[in-house]
Amino acid sequence: MNLLQQIWRSSLGKKYIMALSGAGMFLFVVGHLLGNLQFFLPPEAINRYGHFLKSTPEILWPARLGLLALVGLHIASAITLSGQNKAARPQGYASKAKPLDATLASRTMLFSGLIILAFIVYHLLHFTVLVEQVNFTGLSFEELYQPNNGEMDIYAMMVCGFSVWYVSLFYIVAIGLLCFHLGHGLASMFQSLGLRNHVWAPRIAAFARLASLLVFLGYISMPVSVLVFHHGQEYANRLKADIGGGGRTPAVKVLKGGAK
Ligand code: HEM
Repeated sequence: MNLLQQIWRSSLGKKYIMALSGAGMFLFVVGHLLGNLQFFLPPEAINRYGHFLKSTPEILWPARLGLLALVGLHIASAITLSGQNKAARPQGYASKAKPLDATLASRTMLFSGLIILAFIVYHLLHFTVLVEQVNFTGLSFEELYQPNNGEMDIYAMMVCGFSVWYVSLFYIVAIGLLCFHLGHGLASMFQSLGLRNHVWAPRIAAFARLASLLVFLGYISMPVSVLVFHHGQEYANRLKADIGGGGRTPAVKVLKGGAK
């Protein structure tokens, strides 16, 4: 049996895999958030960033494959560990009482994880694969391009995408669940790696709460700014003026009446 098989067969090994893959995904979530927050800079910033990523396959594809591997390892270790835990206590708890240190987040990790997975699938169809039927704007995001260089207009895509209230609401709920999952996951990651003791436990708990709150606020700031504060409206109006009011860019049509 090789080392990798040995690690996978032991439950401690699987806990390590779950913690390290979770840490990798957390780094992605923070990096993705920082990149996306350029939405609050002039539109060229996020458009340039998106174009750079898309036109640099030597960064994009290793990152995509790495992320896919992390997701796969995290899910596989979560499912097998949860199966092993159930098998270790086939009778369930003697009373209906919940385990002492089990918070709501810890008891619903598998459930919140599955909803997050469903959200990611939707999000990929929405903003990466650009499936028209799932954006509910009645237009294809592929047709959104920047008037000055003809490249894809990611800024306009985000404004249009979040102008649909129920899409924004779904994002907000899913990101809420993601942060609920993160709050518990981050704290238990330190425990699995053997880095939590009675001195560090309160600091780790505070870090986990603060980090998940900041991630939540950072991500929801984008749909909220479009939906509530009509962020991007000015850009759409300028775009309209640039093209002489002819309505070449579908984004203009969607935004004419503000958020839907
Ligand atoms: C308000 C919230 C979010 C916004 C505005 C946003 C924005 C975007 C955009 C614009 C893209 C497409 C990049 C491109 O193909 O040019 C993208 C891709 C992606 N997003 Fe998000 N995102 C958000 C939340 C999330 C969250 C919470 C996760 C993960 C938990 C996530 C995971 C991904 C992944 C995996 C990709 C695919 C990257 C690729 O391979 O191209 N996103 N996101």
